[in-house]
Amino acid sequence: MLFRRQNNELEVLAPAKLNLFLEITDKRSDGFHELDMLMVPIALYDTLTFKLRRDDEIALSTRCAVGNKIALPAAPDNLVTRAVKLLRQRIETDSASTTSGLDICLFKRIPAAAGLGGGSSDAAAALVAANYLWQAGLSTVELSELALQIGSDVPFFLSGSAARCRGRGELLTPLNIPATLDVVLIKPRVGLATAEVFAEYATHQGGSVDDRVAADNILGACASGRAPEIGKWLYNRLVDSALRLQPELQQLQAELLALGLPGVQMTGSGSTFYLICRHARQARNIAEKLSHRGHAAVFHTRTLVHRSLNINSEQDSFPLEQPCVGLSP
Ligand code: C5P
Repeated sequence: MLFRRQNNELEVLAPAKLNLFLEITDKRSDGFHELDMLMVPIALYDTLTFKLRRDDEIALSTRCAVGNKIALPAAPDNLVTRAVKLLRQRIETDSASTTSGLDICLFKRIPAAAGLGGGSSDAAAALVAANYLWQAGLSTVELSELALQIGSDVPFFLSGSAARCRGRGELLTPLNIPATLDVVLIKPRVGLATAEVFAEYATHQGGSVDDRVAADNILGACASGRAPEIGKWLYNRLVDSALRLQPELQQLQAELLALGLPGVQMTGSGSTFYLICRHARQARNIAEKLSHRGHAAVFHTRTLVHRSLNINSEQDSFPLEQPCVGLSP
C-alpha cells in the first residue's frame, strides 16, 4: 500500500497480489478451508481517495480504468464501504465517540473475479485510511481482526509484503523474496467466483489430502530470488477445479505452457493466469504479443520487493505519519 496526503485528502494505492503457491491442507468446521499460500503484492494498483465529510454519510463513487469494465457492487455491498462501516461500528462501540462521514473515490485497474485480490486490497486500504482519518488508533492486529471479517485475503494486504499465509489466509509469516520478478498477467474474458471454485474443489477432491504438496521447494526458491527456480515450483491446488468450471481455460493454459517461460500458473481461485519471465524485455514482448489474442486484459507488471520502511523507496509502504514520495499511479 502506498499513501499520499494532499491537503485534506488521503490517496492510497492498493496493490493486486499473485499466489506463487496455494495448497489446501484441510476442510474446517466453519465451512472454510485450511490453506497454505505464498502471496506476493504486484505493481498493479487500484487508487482510492478519502476525504472527511461534514455529515456522517459514507459516500462511495467508483470509476473503472479503460478496458477494465467491472460491474462493481453498489455502495452498501462494496467491500470498501463494508470495511469502513465495520471500523466505525468498532470505534463507536469501544469509545462511544462518533465518526464523521467520508467521501471515497475508487478507481479500479485490477480486474474483478480474477484471483488478484483487488476487492480485498481495496478493503484493507479503506481500513487503514479510515483508521488514520478518524484518528482511531487501532493497531495492525486490531485492524487484522476486522479485516478477516471482510474476507480471508484482507489481512494479507494490511501486511504490505510478500507472505506465507496459513489458516483461512490470516496467519501471516513475512516472506523475503530478494529480487523483483517480471510477470505478465492474462485475464481471460471469463471470470470465476471464489466460493464456486472452492465448492467445486470440495465436491471433487474434498476428502483427499494424500497428495498434499509441501511449500518447502518454493520457499527455498523464493529465498534465492531467481525467476527460473521460483517458476519451477509454482503450485495452485485450485487449478483443476477452475478448469472444470471453465473448460475454455484449458486451451489458455496449454498455450501459455507452450511459450516455454520459467513459470506459468493461475493466481488464487482464477481466472487470471500469470507468466514469470526471465527479464523485463521478455515480459514486455510477450505481453505485447498476447494483448492481440482477445483476452479481457493483459498486463506486464512486476512483484513488489519488501524492504524495511524507507521514505526514499518507491515500492515500499510508508508510515502514514510521513509524507509519501515517488507515488506514480
Ligand atoms: O473469505 P472470502 O470471502 O474471500 O472467501 C470467499 C469464499 O471462498 C468463502 O465463502 C469460501 O467458500 C471460500 N474460502 C474457503 N476457505 C478459505 C477462503 C475462502 O473455503 N480459506
